[in-house]
Formats: sequence, C-alpha cells, structure tokens
Amino acid sequence: MEIVIEGIKRLNGKISVPGDKSISHRAIIFGAIAQGETGIHQFLNSRDCLSTLKCISALGVRIDNVNPSRIRIIGAGLHGFKKPANILDAGNSGTTIRLLAGLLSGQSFNTLISGDDSLRKRPMKRVIEPLSLMGAKISGDKNGRFAPLSINGCQLNPIKYTLPVASAQVKSALLIAGLYTGGETVIIEPQVSRDHTERMLDFMQADIQINPPEIKISGKKGLKGVEIFIPGDLSSAAYFLAAASARKGFRIIIKEVGVNPTRTGMIEILKKMGANIEISNYQVQSNEPRADVKIKGADLYGVEINKEIIGKLIDELPLIAAIATQAHGKTIVSGAKELRVKETDRITAIVTELKKMGASILEKEDGFEITGPTRLQGAVCKSYHDHRMAMTMAVAALYAEGKTVIEDAECIDISYPDFFKTLKKICE
Ligand code: S3P
Repeated sequence: MEIVIEGIKRLNGKISVPGDKSISHRAIIFGAIAQGETGIHQFLNSRDCLSTLKCISALGVRIDNVNPSRIRIIGAGLHGFKKPANILDAGNSGTTIRLLAGLLSGQSFNTLISGDDSLRKRPMKRVIEPLSLMGAKISGDKNGRFAPLSINGCQLNPIKYTLPVASAQVKSALLIAGLYTGGETVIIEPQVSRDHTERMLDFMQADIQINPPEIKISGKKGLKGVEIFIPGDLSSAAYFLAAASARKGFRIIIKEVGVNPTRTGMIEILKKMGANIEISNYQVQSNEPRADVKIKGADLYGVEINKEIIGKLIDELPLIAAIATQAHGKTIVSGAKELRVKETDRITAIVTELKKMGASILEKEDGFEITGPTRLQGAVCKSYHDHRMAMTMAVAALYAEGKTVIEDAECIDISYPDFFKTLKKICE
C-alpha cells in the first residue's frame, strides 16, 4: 500500500490513541500464567499483539474476545500450558519471541519459535545467554544468534545478572523465567528501560521487589488473575505530538495516554526543545499512570540526547530526527546503537529517507546529527516494512512542500492500524 501525504497548514483536535503495545503483550502473557481469569480492557488489536495472542492460544490457553479490544483469559497457572502442535510464530514481534523464550524455558515440553524475515535477523543471544545461565536448554540459528529458537523446557535456577544492554524485553524474559525457579532471581539494569513487566507482576501479586536498577523476583509463587485497564500508547501518541510541536497555531490534545516515567523521554525532550506541553487529569489504573497530554506548536531548538535517556524514548528516536529538521540549530543523538537492531536499522533508514526530503542529517555509528530548520521537500520514501518508519515519514511529510509518497505503508498495522485515519481527521 502506498500513501500520499501533502504538507499541511492546519492541525487541530482532541483524540485518543489505541492501547499500549508493550502492556498489551504483557497482559496476555501474564493473564495466561495467572490463576483465575484476567480481563483486558483497551487491548491493542494490532498485528504484533495478535502474534502474542495466537502463540498463547497455541499453548492451550483459553482466550475469549469479548470484542476486538476486550479480552478474557482463563489463566493456565504456571504449569498448565500444553505443547503446541506446530512451530510458534512471533511474526514481526521482538517482544513476543523474547518474552516467550523466558516462559517456554520453564515448561515441561519442547517448542520451536520463529518469526518473519525481519525478526529472524534480530539478535537473540541477548536472551539465550542469560536464560542458559539459568539452566535453560535453548539454541538458535547461526550459533545461537538468531531465531528460530529451539527450547527444551526444564527446571530453571535463579541467577544474579547484570544486563549488558538496557533492554526491557530481555529483562522481562528473565523475570518470567524467574517465576519458574525455586529461589530469588536478581536483575540489574545498566540504564532505565520500560518497567511495565515489573508493575504488572506486582499488580498480579508476584513476589517481586523493585528497587531500580535492581529487581528481585522469587519463584514458586504464581500470579493472580486481575482486571487490567490499558492506557493509550504514548509511542503512538508521539506521532501526533511531534506533528503539532513545531508550528505555531497547531494544537492537539491526547486523552488518557500512558505517562509511565520510563516511557516519557519524548515529552521531556520536546519540552527541552521549547515545545508547549501540558499534562492534566493524571491518574493511576492497574498500576500504570495515564493523563491527558496537550501540545501547542512553538519554535523549537536543537538539543543533545545521550545514553542516559535513550531507554525512555528508544522507539521515538526516528521521530525526533524528523522533528529536529524543523528545530533551530543542531540536534545530536548519541548512545543509540540499539536502533540498528530494531525492525530495521533505524539509523540508516531515517538518515536515508530524511536526506531524500532535503534534511541536513549526518549518520553516526550510534546516532545522528541534524541541523535545522530545513524546508523539507516531498519525496518517495520507503518504510522498510517498519511501522515506526512509515509513521515517522508521514509526520515529516506534513512539514514538507508538495507530495510525499510512503511505500509499503501497510506495516503500520503492526502497532497502529488506524493511524492514517486519525491523522487525516486532525489535519482536515
Ligand atoms: C519493548 C522494548 C523495547 C522497544 C520495543 C518494545 C517491550 O525493546 O524498543 O518496541 O515491549 O519490552 P528492547 O527491549 O529491545 O529495548
């Protein structure tokens, strides 16, 4: 699918965005592990989350879709899963394969799990190595570097482990595996990464102690089924915040969006760039904070973004690059090498595509440098079949002169199937 977008003169509206992707994955997995029923409200009905849902149901768990965004799971308990008849398919989803690697390692049967072309190129050693230290029998393609993963479930041992790279997916895999041990697993993070797993485990009464950068979890005690109300996904809201941020007169309000402090790096950076952002109606539901976020366009200025904050805005960095083309002065992003191992190499991808539009952007090994402001020109842009690239280029297109074509834009259904519909609504 090709999408054509023209530069806009007006942007205004009050919207809500679909449920948080990271929390939706976890709600399915932890609901399945729990004893009793779990109700999931505002579940993100997107391709990635459906990959998790299908894998969990292939493991014999009963899942009822009350409607597309409301789900009930009949928990299987820690040991109630069944050997799947076929290879599990995680599709495009790193969260699915890595979190399930932790779960499958502790079962009493063998499984194979794989995914699409992009997922099979993403690093798996980062989960295989620490899970092996816990006693897991897990192997991957090309010397354990890639999926497919073959997992022979067995009894696991607790470990104390410092993550070499800040990764919520790896941390979560190890915390899940920790539930299958007879002792206390301790995980230490080098930098902040999203803490939805810790919050949900706590909410479901796991024996967990959260003292960042250290998390301790004890095995044996299972989880309790709960009602989980998922806030809007700040990573989806970020496209609209960015779209409205850099031009006076543009404004947008996003209702009930997740403002978990391990995710709000984009808001912090936009504020530092000079954006006019207000947070109101703050409340906590199901152990996750949410609020209404309002932004009014303003003159933006370049900033430096380094390693310390990267984990809090990792998925928003291509978008920050796009908006930095509209800011006065230099924006420098460093310490973001992880971007190279996402759904595509997001450093090369964003530099290549923004250059096509006339941006002054320089590729670095671990980030990029942008000098603005630039009047972008419409171009034919690739999505690299990466949902975040497709939506980022759509935002860049709003600030460009003339028409921009985004190729292979259907990949937005990975995280935000209605993205273009909502974008159209606020630009009319
Ligand atoms: C996610 C963690 C991040 C993020 C991804 C979702 C999660 O990946 O980029 O989109 O749900 O845990 P890493 O854990 O690899 O940093």
